[in-house]
Amino acid sequence: MKLSVPGPYPMEGTMSTTAPAPNLPSVTKKKNIQTFRQKKEHGEPITMLTGYDYPTALALDRAGIDAILVGDSLGMVVLGYEDTMPVTMEQMLHHCRAVARAVRSALLIGDMPFMSYQISTEEAVRNAGRFLQEGGMHSVKLEGGRERLETIRAIINAGIPVMGHLGLTPQSIHALGGFRTQGRTAEAARRILEDAILLEEAGCYSLVLESVPARLAELISKRISIPTIGIGAGVGCDGQVLVVHDMLGLFDRFTPKFVKKYADLHGEMQRAFGEYIEDVLARRYPAEEHTVEMPEEEWRMLLGELPAEKDT
Ligand code: KIV
Repeated sequence: MKLSVPGPYPMEGTMSTTAPAPNLPSVTKKKNIQTFRQKKEHGEPITMLTGYDYPTALALDRAGIDAILVGDSLGMVVLGYEDTMPVTMEQMLHHCRAVARAVRSALLIGDMPFMSYQISTEEAVRNAGRFLQEGGMHSVKLEGGRERLETIRAIINAGIPVMGHLGLTPQSIHALGGFRTQGRTAEAARRILEDAILLEEAGCYSLVLESVPARLAELISKRISIPTIGIGAGVGCDGQVLVVHDMLGLFDRFTPKFVKKYADLHGEMQRAFGEYIEDVLARRYPAEEHTVEMPEEEWRMLLGELPAEKDT
């Protein structure tokens, strides 16, 4: 639909009238941590994806996603770092704010970056608070099990809901020996199960299980009452999350085995950029429909006012 754009854009244009996905109610309900609990009670899967910017968050929210995680994975898929370790609080908050501006319905989770919660409980609570106060998030996620209980309790005592994260915890890849599946031996699996129970007892409202055997993830999901959100952890979890750049085919460095690619946006972007370059080189773009003209009499007046062009 062609509309004149109101407000600060004094030009003609096309205003998007994109409606929510057709299967959604027209009045979208705000999701919260109770939504997670209710979904687990009703056996309904929880849907979650990462999101780092305004347009992606807008599309996720309009599609009806339950939760958006502003993950520190943005260090790799948006900022191009080798791993998540260099990501700072300021970078996280910058992306959180962009996501929060777009979202009406989804529960928003800010991922606490490396060294924002490990140094002291006080610093952890202060940084967790910044995600809500400055980043517009509704809750935070942090990695680790038994060693994080005191920190998690302190953040929850400050009124901030916490999501845990067990299994492959990317901020510990140097200790874990790389990006590899966790909990493959009975002993390692028991430790993850024990940690999951401890995180529930500490008050986490939910728990990410990353790269653990499907049987273990299912067992944990049955043994704890808070919802588990799996990534590379099989179908037995209470919900699923993926890194949005992986599932959209936007991150070309590598794709983990557990990722289902729903699109090839990197390929599509390259195609569009190539077409644009060809159009500009061939002077096919901008065409008449992309061009603004001034009224003929104004043009003539301008030419009449101009000094004659010098002969060269
Ligand atoms: O940072 C992130 O995107 C995550 C998900 C992989 C769960 O922690």
